[in-house]
Amino acid sequence: MSPYALITGASRGLGAAFAHRLASEKRSLILVARSQELLVSLKTDLAEHHGVSVQVLAADLTHPDAARSIHAECMRHGWRVSLLVNNAGIGRFGAFLQHPPSDYDGMIRLNVLAAVELTHLFLADMRQASHGEIINVASMAAFQPTPYIAVYGATKAFLLSFSEAIAAECFGTNIRILALCPGATRTNFFKAAGLQNLSVIESAPMQSAEAVVDAALKALRSGQTRVVPGWKNRVMATLSGLVPRRWNLPLSARAIQQAFGITSRE
Ligand SMILES: NC(=O)c1ccc[n+]([C@@H]2O[C@H](COP(=O)([O-])OP(=O)(O)OC[C@H]3O[C@@H](n4cnc5c(N)ncnc54)[C@H](OP(=O)(O)O)[C@@H]3O)[C@@H](O)[C@H]2O)c1
Repeated sequence: MSPYALITGASRGLGAAFAHRLASEKRSLILVARSQELLVSLKTDLAEHHGVSVQVLAADLTHPDAARSIHAECMRHGWRVSLLVNNAGIGRFGAFLQHPPSDYDGMIRLNVLAAVELTHLFLADMRQASHGEIINVASMAAFQPTPYIAVYGATKAFLLSFSEAIAAECFGTNIRILALCPGATRTNFFKAAGLQNLSVIESAPMQSAEAVVDAALKALRSGQTRVVPGWKNRVMATLSGLVPRRWNLPLSARAIQQAFGITSRE
């Protein structure tokens, strides 16, 4: 049986774009997210158009046992995963105190713990097979603190650091690990993150999910350990590393408020 690509958060947005692109390359797929109906409809679409084998595992990755259950299910069916895309993630816009700690707990479980656990489980198999690839979807929010979406930015900084560290541990092996750091991308992310003023982002210039996936796969295949899709985003990421923090922090607070129409009280 040909090896699988397992994509978390595959029901929409970047995850669905990864699924379409990889299916067009004839990869067998395992699709993970909570929305079973969306996954089944995507499976039907991909199987019809590309004739690939698609498995659906509906799971809530905030659940402490989710990663282990997904891995166990793959073992039980003999689905060998040679590409893991840790893509599922959520944000929460607004001042830190606006939301209860339980919201942040779920976000950290999803964005951080699920990705670490899945990486641990599937990387061990990849080491045994002496081959494999992992893409962890971080964000440009990983490069500096992100006021008004503070916990989200911190989870993405974690993912970037974690991904590059284990990428270095895998140098000299046949295993590649990439941290994908997209800027604003046209998906359901902003609505899901509770952004009140959605009209500000409707007209904003954003990359398409397909362009981000394209950049990610090119970078993975050329052996990069991190990629920022889009030249404007790369310029911004470089500049934010050059500006001293004491200037950068108030600037990024104002930029995030303006870009997303957030008032201080939100
Ligand atoms: N869009 C952007 O501007 C942007 C920029 C940088 C980075 N990113 C990152 O890109 C990744 C994908 O986001 P997106 O932009 O494609 O957003 P999206 O359209 O909102 O998709 C998020 C995906 O995550 C899944 N998900 C959410 N909660 C989950 C849970 N508890 N368990 C399992 N799956 C869950 C969702 O599926 P269900 O609801 O069906 O569970 C959905 O498939 C995220 O990690 C995000 O942080 C996005």
